Amino acid sequence: MNENLMDKVVSLCKRRGFIFHSSEIYGGLSNTWDYGPYGVELKNNLKRSWWKSVVYERDDVFGMDAAILMHPKVWEASGHVDNFFDLKSDCKSCKKRFKAADLKETKKCPECGGELTEARAFNLMFKTHQGAVEDAANAIYLRPETAQGMFVNFQNILDSKHPKLPFGLAQIGKAFRNEITPGNFTFRTREFEQMEIEYFVRPEEADKKLEEWIEARFNWYLNLGVRKDNLRRRPHGKDELAHYAKACTDIEYNFPFSTKGGSASGGGWSELEGIANRTDFDLRQHSQASGKDLQYFDNVTKEKFYPYIIEPSGGVDRSVLALLVDAYNEEKVKDDLRVVLKLHKDLAPVKVAVLPLLRNRPEIVELAKKLTRDLKKKMVTVYDDTGAIGKLYRRQDEVGTLYCVTVDVQSLEDKQATVRHRDTMQQERVSIDNLKNYLEEKLT
Ligand code: GAP
Repeated sequence: MNENLMDKVVSLCKRRGFIFHSSEIYGGLSNTWDYGPYGVELKNNLKRSWWKSVVYERDDVFGMDAAILMHPKVWEASGHVDNFFDLKSDCKSCKKRFKAADLKETKKCPECGGELTEARAFNLMFKTHQGAVEDAANAIYLRPETAQGMFVNFQNILDSKHPKLPFGLAQIGKAFRNEITPGNFTFRTREFEQMEIEYFVRPEEADKKLEEWIEARFNWYLNLGVRKDNLRRRPHGKDELAHYAKACTDIEYNFPFSTKGGSASGGGWSELEGIANRTDFDLRQHSQASGKDLQYFDNVTKEKFYPYIIEPSGGVDRSVLALLVDAYNEEKVKDDLRVVLKLHKDLAPVKVAVLPLLRNRPEIVELAKKLTRDLKKKMVTVYDDTGAIGKLYRRQDEVGTLYCVTVDVQSLEDKQATVRHRDTMQQERVSIDNLKNYLEEKLT
């Protein structure tokens, strides 16, 4: 484990505008984070890649965007009111709070050795009130998972799209959990974003489809360039399964910090995404609670039944963190240390930076700015003339910019610019007329 690496990534995130502490000028709200200019680009690129792979590149999954607020009965039927809680103990001396699961056999406070309170159940859902009156009748929850928005729309999808099994729904959105032990930067927070698929299948096909989704999702992370050594699949033990699941396999990443309680196996390995077989639990529960028949009718076999649901459920923030850690590289270049984020080309927040070699030469600046305007129409491009070229390169390396295009005196004559490649630092001269095509080809 390399806790030092984590400090470096957290520091880079703040220094270069990826992730800031929320409400920092007021001392910060604990374990809450804001994404800055580069962070939001990285996050959006990640979400776009997910959507492309699970919606656009398939013909059996449809997108959705359900509301965060839902009828309170949803959470009774889903089992979250009765089952979605953690057991917690407080230290009577230092007042620290612990998840009972993390304490295992320990009877004393792991921080100060003080006496612990009895473990008490603590529901993880955020409760609030809808409308002007704050009474029990108006109580409402912030959703702890996006999944339920897809289950309660099952009939709407059948009526509007008439899909045949197997088919799925995909959604990206915020979820909220009043976690007892948030921490490790954006790894466990109370407000976070999920990318979830609810894939409806015939019950007898569920085991096979579960395996297929585990493979598909594992490969998605690999295709985004995550190092193979840092990824693994881990099937859940029976005692770990959520109240709705029959089986579940986590895709885990080897984070550079101890994820006490984050994974049964401990160490840095912890969950990026869970792929579960939720059986017909949710559709049955909602049928019963709403009085609406949510069974599927098979036109060919004339059978009516509740489909099983295979659910690949990943975290946006956790994936962004894993990608940042994975992409962080330090390289010795002569007497200098080059920090470079080797992010996949689809994920890099900035694709091209245009840098004039001499900022006091108006013709060079003008040409560089014109080039920037042209490239901006096709790819995320920035212009920077605020330092010497070496410094500008380092700055772009730190945020993972793929190509730096330098305009110099010679460019005015031969109409060529120097393209520097992030990962190899190799440079080549490319005709300015052909630059857009050249870069587009590299990026696709
Ligand atoms: N619908 C199933 C479900 O919500 P989960 O394993 O509780 O399953 C899915 O959550 C994913 O959401 C996790 O794999 C993780 O990436 C992310 N996630 C869950 N709780 C989180 C938290 N407190 N902070 C950040 N991400 C979280």
